[in-house]
Order: sequence, then C-alpha cells, then structure tokens
Amino acid sequence: MTKKTLLSGVKPTGRPHIGNYFGAMRQFVDMQDEYNAIYMIADYHALNFIQNKEELNQAIIDLTIDYLALGLDPKKSIIFKQSDVMEHTELAWIFDTITTMPYLERAHAYKDAEVKNKEISVGTFNYPMLMAADILLYDVDAVPVGQDQKQHVEYARDTAQKFNFIFGKEVFKLPESKILGEVAVVPGIDGQKMSKSYGNTIPLFATLDEITKAVMSIPTDSKPMNEPRNPEEDNVFKLHKLFSKSEDLFVLRERYEKGEIGHKESKEILIKNIDAFIAPLREKRDQIAHDIDYVLDVLKDGGKRAKAKAEKKMEAVREVIGVKLY
Ligand code: TYM
Repeated sequence: MTKKTLLSGVKPTGRPHIGNYFGAMRQFVDMQDEYNAIYMIADYHALNFIQNKEELNQAIIDLTIDYLALGLDPKKSIIFKQSDVMEHTELAWIFDTITTMPYLERAHAYKDAEVKNKEISVGTFNYPMLMAADILLYDVDAVPVGQDQKQHVEYARDTAQKFNFIFGKEVFKLPESKILGEVAVVPGIDGQKMSKSYGNTIPLFATLDEITKAVMSIPTDSKPMNEPRNPEEDNVFKLHKLFSKSEDLFVLRERYEKGEIGHKESKEILIKNIDAFIAPLREKRDQIAHDIDYVLDVLKDGGKRAKAKAEKKMEAVREVIGVKLY
C-alpha cells in the first residue's frame, strides 16, 4: 500500500514550548514512519513577527535543531524551510485572487488580532492563504496540528475545493487536520492557552532554572493545605497531566481531593517530572547544536526535495489557470 502524505510546520518565532510539543510536534515524531512526512520551518510566516536579519537567521537554525533533537529524521522525512521553495508564495498569490475579504475576515487569528487592536499587516490577514499553499502544494492527506490551527486547515480545504471548482479540474487534494484530543489546547502557566505571545510558556528545551522559575510562578488559590481541592481547577494539576504516569496521576488526584497536598509540594513534583522529561532532549539538542554545517545540510537537502514536488504541482496549476503558453 502506498503511504499517505503529511505536512506540518512551526513558525520560527522563538523557542518552542511544551504546548507546541504536546499539541503538535510529538505527533511529528510518531508519524514519520507511517507517512511520507514533510516538516516545514514556516519562515515566511514568521516574517510577520520577526523583521530582523540576525534574529530570523538564528530562529530558523534553532528550530531546525529543535526538530532534529526531538527525533525528526531527515532520512525518513523532508525537513525544509518555506522560503527555499518559492512556489509557496506564488501559489498563495493565486489563492488570494480567488478568495474574498469577508471570508478571510472570519479567521480566528485575524479576529483575535483585531480585538487586541493591533495594526494588522496584510501578511497577517493573508496568512491562511499562504498556509493553504503550504499544504496544497504537496497533495497532503493529513496535517497534524493543535486545536488553534484547525480553522486554518479548513481554509486550505475550502480553498482547494474552490480552486478545483473554478478551474474545472481536481488539481488539489483535500487535506484533513489531525488533532490529538486530550492535548488539543495545552494550558500555559496562567491557565490560558500556552502561547509565545501571552508570555505564559515553559520552553521545550528549558534549563532546570527556567523550569523552576516558570512552575513557581503558576498562580494558585489561597486555600490552606488540608482543604480538599478540585484538581481540574488547578493550573499545576493541568500540567501534571502531561508529565505524570497514569498511576502517579491517580495518586496525585486523590491527594488533591483529600486536601493532602500543598501547592509547594505539587509544584516541586511537577518541576522534577518536567526536568526528567526535558533533560535528555536538552542534551541531544546541545550535541546537534555543535554541528551547524550538518544542520544547514539537512535544510538544503530538504529544500531540494520539497522543491521538486512543489515545482511539479505548480506546473499543473499554471497550466489550468491559463498562464502557461510554452
Ligand atoms: P505555530 O508555530 O503557532 O505552532 C506550532 C504548532 O503548535 C501547536 N500549538 C499548540 N497545541 C496545543 N496547545 C497549545 N497551547 C499550542 N500552541 C501551539 C499549533 O497548533 C501548531 O500545530 N500556522 C502554523 C504554522 C504553519 C503550518 C503550516 C502548520 C504554517 N504552515 C502548514 C501546518 C501546516 C503556526 O503558526 O503554528
């Protein structure tokens, strides 16, 4: 049986956090055997946030190292950066021409930005079309992402359908998002969705000091130690769910409910568990970071392999829209 194809991406806009990991990146590693997997560094998306040469250079390299440290294997998967395949921006333009403003105005990310009264760039507004291009160029079946990207994958589906309908040919395959139910939205240290822009993250490759600082700053209620507590309302417990074995979580839950555990102890257990999880990743990351030439080679090679696929697709697109004359 031929393998299905998946594509996903992360924006290089600073260190990934455990929300990125449990919501999306963990699936990346698990899925690379079963699928023809394509993992992208979404650097043109990041340009909406970082407009500084050195910073963007570094962010791209860092994220590539992160991918490799997590276990993405360039022999199994294509690892590449978006800007190496200019077909992405070309196709995004074509999608812009068949997309209406009101349709894009319904995007959650745009609406959120508007509510916050930010000056919204055209790039931010058009973001779903570039993301649709990322996905549709590669005949993708599955897009593993966290809940916050679900709507963007739906935009890609709608856009594929619309294009196929307008030009009368099934050029694009309809992709589906793959979302891990229980960790679709990983909470940050303040209980809101963990997000770089909210400043409530625990970085995925954090040092013990950083983990300690982040966990110790989680706000908690002021109930005295021996009063029963609902673990589901506790931000520390929500994170325990990600880092505890099920039998340990069961015991913790009981201790919360019986009022047998204080915030300090609960936080100390969490720090220990997070560090035990992160320490080997940190080590692997440090090793890879010593060989930047290898990291750049991975990107270059991935870029060539992705480009070969994207070029073929764009030939078909140019043909059906009517710009290909020779
Ligand atoms: P980005 O870089 O914001 O996030 C990367 C992935 O992490 C997931 N995620 C979370 N999951 C659960 N809980 C959280 N608190 C949490 N925070 C982030 C995101 O859902 C995402 O899967 N637009 C994308 C990047 C992108 C892309 C693509 C993805 C560009 N082109 C094509 C898939 C396919 C983004 O900004 O992700």
